[in-house]
Amino acid sequence: MIREKIEELRRTLDYHNHKYYVENSPEISDREFDVLMRELQELEAAHPEYADPNSPTARVGSDLTTEFQSVEHRFPMLSLGNTYSLDELHEFIGRIEKELGQTEFVCELKFDGTAISLTYEHGALLRAVTRGDGTRGDDVTANIRTIRTIPLHLQGGDYPDFFEIRGEVLLPYASFARLNREREENGEPLLANPRNAAAGTLKQQSSAVVAQRGLDCTLYQLAGDDLPCTTHWECMRKASEWGFNVSDKMRICRSQAEIDDYIAFWDEERRKLPFATDGVVIKVNSYTLRRELGFTAKAPRWAVAFKFKAEQALTRLESVDFQVGRTGAITPVANLDPVQLAGTTVKRATLHNAEQIALLDIRVGDMVYVEKGGEIIPKITGVDLAARPADSRPFQYITRCPECGTPQVKYEGERKH
Ligand code: IVH
Repeated sequence: MIREKIEELRRTLDYHNHKYYVENSPEISDREFDVLMRELQELEAAHPEYADPNSPTARVGSDLTTEFQSVEHRFPMLSLGNTYSLDELHEFIGRIEKELGQTEFVCELKFDGTAISLTYEHGALLRAVTRGDGTRGDDVTANIRTIRTIPLHLQGGDYPDFFEIRGEVLLPYASFARLNREREENGEPLLANPRNAAAGTLKQQSSAVVAQRGLDCTLYQLAGDDLPCTTHWECMRKASEWGFNVSDKMRICRSQAEIDDYIAFWDEERRKLPFATDGVVIKVNSYTLRRELGFTAKAPRWAVAFKFKAEQALTRLESVDFQVGRTGAITPVANLDPVQLAGTTVKRATLHNAEQIALLDIRVGDMVYVEKGGEIIPKITGVDLAARPADSRPFQYITRCPECGTPQVKYEGERKH
């Protein structure tokens, strides 16, 4: 009786969780959901004999700290060949079309998070492993269970008994900003970017902490011996039916022109997305053709990543501060007219060192280009000379330490004073 009640509650909560987090169309109120969850928590606490690691109560995580076990991937987690050049991309398409004739490609976003491999057995999440070195990764299953868009049990019935699905764990901009606000208040060092924050969060020892962080996950690769699909497109549609969060931004492209259009569209539109992307991945759709193309030592020959140029913004350089680090190294830091860039407001950016300022001839009052790549702090990459004020003067670098007033020195081979 109790056992049936527990199982029914689990099924109900799984169902409403998917409605809410994956489909974005809840059928019950948050309050009703919480009541059911509390009921399940109480029953489980009173009946530990019916414990299940994939119970919806696992979503809230636990305070027990975990050591991560190293696990070998059933097949290696490879990287992708990548390019910033449309010409190179066209060569890639041309090579494949020459070998295979006209070919169907799938274009999708390149999510800027951290890769994860999920294994399901009989429709239940068995294991979640990070990419690691590509051959072995860390078992982070307890942490992954807290991500509400990852199904703990699958829907439908035509999934294989045993398969793997891979994707990217992301920290949306809003969660990233909230996390860094908390860190700032607590005097902790800020996290570099959403990608590092996602990777760092997955390695947290307490899943209760992970549950608070607001991670998300999107899946983009299915693997197994007996898949009920023969193209990537079909497999992703299946995955979505089974309850996985699959991007709705994927498109089938049948020509270079269609691929170019997809890239041009998303290079602009991605600014409106709530999470970071750093390019477009172009994949051959058919699994048979993929097998024909095969792999190099590092990457599949049937896919390539076209990377977007780092997002740039143009703003005025108001003044320059000099920061003295723990080792005494001096870093010039730009104070900027605040500007929106890749989901955050940028007020400060690094100018690296005296040499860099001289090289770019950066002056106070200039309109400067700010860029945020994967780096911790945005950087200034150039000056709009046409917008330079008539009365502008070359920047005078300091000669003394701003902290103690001693003349600054620069050692041979070092870049900073
Ligand atoms: S497919 C065999 N699709 O990019 C490689 N990867 O640079 C299969 N990534 O390790 C990967 N978005 O972590 C694929 N839509 C996407 C992706 C994607 C992001 C990441 C992934 C991979 C890295 C390669």
